[in-house]
Amino acid sequence: MGSTSFGIPEHRFGSNGEKMPVLGFGTTVFPPVGAEATKMAILQLIKLGYRHFDTAAKYGSEQPLGEAIQEALSIGLIQSRDELFITTKLWCGDAHGDLVVPALKRSLQNLKLEYLDLFLIHWPVSCKPGTYEFPIKEENFLPMDFNSIWAAMEERQRLNLTKSIGVSNFSCKKLTDILAIANIPPAVNQVEMNPMWQQKKLREFCRANGIFLTAYSPLGANGTFWGSDRVLECEVLKEIAKAKGKTAAQTGISEMDI
Ligand SMILES: NC(=O)c1ccc[n+]([C@@H]2O[C@H](COP(=O)([O-])OP(=O)(O)OC[C@H]3O[C@@H](n4cnc5c(N)ncnc54)[C@H](OP(=O)(O)O)[C@@H]3O)[C@@H](O)[C@H]2O)c1
Repeated sequence: MGSTSFGIPEHRFGSNGEKMPVLGFGTTVFPPVGAEATKMAILQLIKLGYRHFDTAAKYGSEQPLGEAIQEALSIGLIQSRDELFITTKLWCGDAHGDLVVPALKRSLQNLKLEYLDLFLIHWPVSCKPGTYEFPIKEENFLPMDFNSIWAAMEERQRLNLTKSIGVSNFSCKKLTDILAIANIPPAVNQVEMNPMWQQKKLREFCRANGIFLTAYSPLGANGTFWGSDRVLECEVLKEIAKAKGKTAAQTGISEMDI
């Protein structure tokens, strides 16, 4: 494990040993905040030493993140884009073989970047081409054609538009389906994981198959659309935190055995 210049440790993952700062900042919140607030928050975080940012086509935060990166470069907070680790995700309405390329190009344009560090399939479902609503209406769900989508993801990695490709919200069963057809296996699976939902079976599966499991909502989220406040309200976690002289949030992240 190495570390960024500000001391956030880095994991190595994937067959090429890419580096990923262990702490990333997610750029979606509910209720949403404006683009300017998102950009200013990201600039502050870069100042504080964050180098890993997580966005998605669906979040509406690609553009403010792109603007923050440009500004961070222009005012010298970072010397080069290579100092950052940027993840974005393919939305379900673009999860069709022929739409992956245009979707990735749009994301790169929004982010004002030439390449991504990580490009993920956001969910293991497709919905009607071009639909962006969330929650997805039942009548708009479509089965995912893993073959054509994963082939397009692999092609993007070969063309160096992204250093790594991966998935999000994939179960062991869905990962098995992808692994059966993949020439380049998914480097990462990003899922909801925290002390109250430890994903033991999935962690073992990913470890055994060389897939790096990353956690979203490690503190549990606010439960509006996903997650719950059970993590930070957990009495056992509070007790451990008190004994260690830390906050429940610090303890929740540092005690996860991942
Ligand atoms: N791949 C996916 O499908 C997916 C789905 C959901 C989320 N994500 C990613 O995960 C990111 C994080 O998600 P999240 O916000 O739900 O989870 P989180 O980082 O676990 O935060 C959950 C809540 O914890 C509170 N919190 C944060 N830092 C704290 C601290 N130091 N002390 C006390 N409380 C603290 C915040 O509450 P307050 O708001 O009250 O401050 C926040 O709403 C998203 O932005 C997104 O990038 C991915």
